[in-house]
Amino acid sequence: KSKIIIDCDPGVDDAIALLLAFASPDEIELVGITTVIGNVSLPLTTRNALRVTAMANRQDVPVYAGCSRPIVLPRVQRGASVHGTDGLGDLGVPDATHPIQGQHAVDFIIDTILREPGEITLCPIGPMTNIALALIKEPSIAAKIKQIVFMGGAAFSPGNTATDAEFNIWIDPHAAQVVLSSGIPMTMFGLDVTRHATLTKARFEELERDASPLMKTAIAMMRYYGSGDASLHDPCVTAFLIDPTLFEGVDAVIDVDLDQSGAYGRTCAVENGNGSPIHVITEVDDERLFRLIDRRLRLL
Ligand code: BDR
Ligand code: CA
Repeated sequence: KSKIIIDCDPGVDDAIALLLAFASPDEIELVGITTVIGNVSLPLTTRNALRVTAMANRQDVPVYAGCSRPIVLPRVQRGASVHGTDGLGDLGVPDATHPIQGQHAVDFIIDTILREPGEITLCPIGPMTNIALALIKEPSIAAKIKQIVFMGGAAFSPGNTATDAEFNIWIDPHAAQVVLSSGIPMTMFGLDVTRHATLTKARFEELERDASPLMKTAIAMMRYYGSGDASLHDPCVTAFLIDPTLFEGVDAVIDVDLDQSGAYGRTCAVENGNGSPIHVITEVDDERLFRLIDRRLRLL
């Protein structure tokens, strides 16, 4: 069973990743949710993390707010068209009534890892600012993190933000470089694989069959997110912790392009390169992944 912290910027697909974790208590113990700037501003990603916990009646999972901007370059946020102005598809998901934690996300991450060395899996599914700052503030945690499983980058395929960059890495490439070069055991879910994990029209229809109110909201969010087929980027991370046999990959050293005149935010992959290799996921059994998500969301 994986003990995890999900570091996120909800975000519609972040919300589905959280719901999938809530629905999988046998495989996943979610010790906390930390939030970061990304799909929307920090106050909104934090509000959304709280709203999603309330939606699933999981107010027991604490939410900690993290960094409100990237380390070096403040970035214009993603247009409202992708995740809606509120970040959850502008569906009027009710506000949570329970509070955010007082501690900063970076300190929560550090304290949790120090308290349980070797036990914690970090799951960044937004920009990596919080994780990078935790590693900078308390370098000793690097050796005590069990693994990092993240959504971000595009190792062997084009980006989705700048030509060559994926959104999470592009927002804070400096943070990504700190994390990806840390030598911590790591599994990467980049666009190489996540753009093949999609909700097609037929799959949407299947989800809709006998859907509970919670599922109806999740479906409406995903419909907003993907006008044609919707990519399940972030849920791949939680799905991997539930059933790793859904995925396959290769090992490669990843370097982030920080040159502002070049392919800023690109993740360059070198197989057999110098440095610590990262397990880069390249294949998904998307039909089995869909079945897993369909079955699990029905449990909530
Ligand atoms: C990533 O960007 C965000 O919009 C999604 O939540 C996902 O984490 C995909 O590029
Ligand atoms: Ca995200």
